Amino acid sequence: MLDWSDTSSAAKAPAFIPLPETPTDATGLGTIDRSGGRVSVDEKRMINCRADVNQLLPLKYKWAWEKYLAGCNNHWMPTEVSMQADIALWKSRDGLTEDERRAIKRNLGFFAASESLVANNIVLAIYRHLTNPECRQYLLRQSFEEAVHTHTFQYIVESLGLDEGELFNMYREVPSITEKAAWALKHTQHLDDPDFKTGKPETDQAFMRDLVAFYVIFEGMWFYTGFAQILSLGRRNKMVGIAEQYQYILRDESIHLNFGIDVINQIKIENPHLWTKAFQEEIRDMIRTAAELEAAYGRDTMPRGFLGLNAALCETYMHFIANRRCAQIGLAPVFVETENPFPWMSEAMDLKKEKNFFETRVIEYQNGGALNWE
Ligand SMILES: [Fe+2]
Ligand SMILES: [Fe+2]
Repeated sequence: MLDWSDTSSAAKAPAFIPLPETPTDATGLGTIDRSGGRVSVDEKRMINCRADVNQLLPLKYKWAWEKYLAGCNNHWMPTEVSMQADIALWKSRDGLTEDERRAIKRNLGFFAASESLVANNIVLAIYRHLTNPECRQYLLRQSFEEAVHTHTFQYIVESLGLDEGELFNMYREVPSITEKAAWALKHTQHLDDPDFKTGKPETDQAFMRDLVAFYVIFEGMWFYTGFAQILSLGRRNKMVGIAEQYQYILRDESIHLNFGIDVINQIKIENPHLWTKAFQEEIRDMIRTAAELEAAYGRDTMPRGFLGLNAALCETYMHFIANRRCAQIGLAPVFVETENPFPWMSEAMDLKKEKNFFETRVIEYQNGGALNWE
């Protein structure tokens, strides 16, 4: 059984081995080294690798390959989920309160552009600098999944007849959403510079900041309160089609998150000089700030709250998740330890149970065992 909450796979990897002397190209698109030897496992590195990045085998990081396989096993498409019940409810006069409608729209608006931001970061910033073919194989799979997620929001907008301009511009027009997007973009912008190169402590740390901002925070913290909002409505039999799609997105994102955590932990093992006390404090500050931005978004999205969900509960949930993410990358907690206010979120990953819960059609692509996503 696969357990993606287990990030210890990276910790079991071989200890740090110095880089070989001969530098080759990191993109894999340089001149072919006709006299170079075959790649051995020991030469493979997460960043600054000097071995040929076009040779997938022999595998070094089996956890990356396993996540690639699990992602493929989880294949789904949003159009396979019926939206009939959601359309009827959305068009009904009193099926949803004004507060619920506001929360749904803001939630969709946050995700609609965020999926593109995450995809662009993988393709344009991370891929180039992550110099390992099995990790790149996973990034290619993840990129497709982000396209499927963006497709989901196109499908929802079309099905419900929502204002597409309003939803896809919320990341620019709703301040609490803009603050989050702008904060994350700050950490990817310099990687987008064609002259940016890893290989110095400052640039390697900049790369790690980007991994934390997008994998640990964007996908691993902010998305989780978004899932909780919609799944909370789904538990009350509201917007069950969107809730089902969010379950599939959550299942994908749990692997994205755990891939990112494994990458960060492996980079730490191979480059212990980067993980200084000061840098650890900086990362903890990033996580604390991100939780505060999320709390502001929660107040903006749910000024009055609704049955089972309000801004205060979401803030507590964010503190719980923030501490958990800190532990996963070996940091001390940033908030006072708290209970998970949404214990039912753990069950949301068990799609077999949900079949009866939502009384809706669930497509079972998954055959790789249960996921512990929390
Ligand atoms: Fe996504
Ligand atoms: Fe993702």
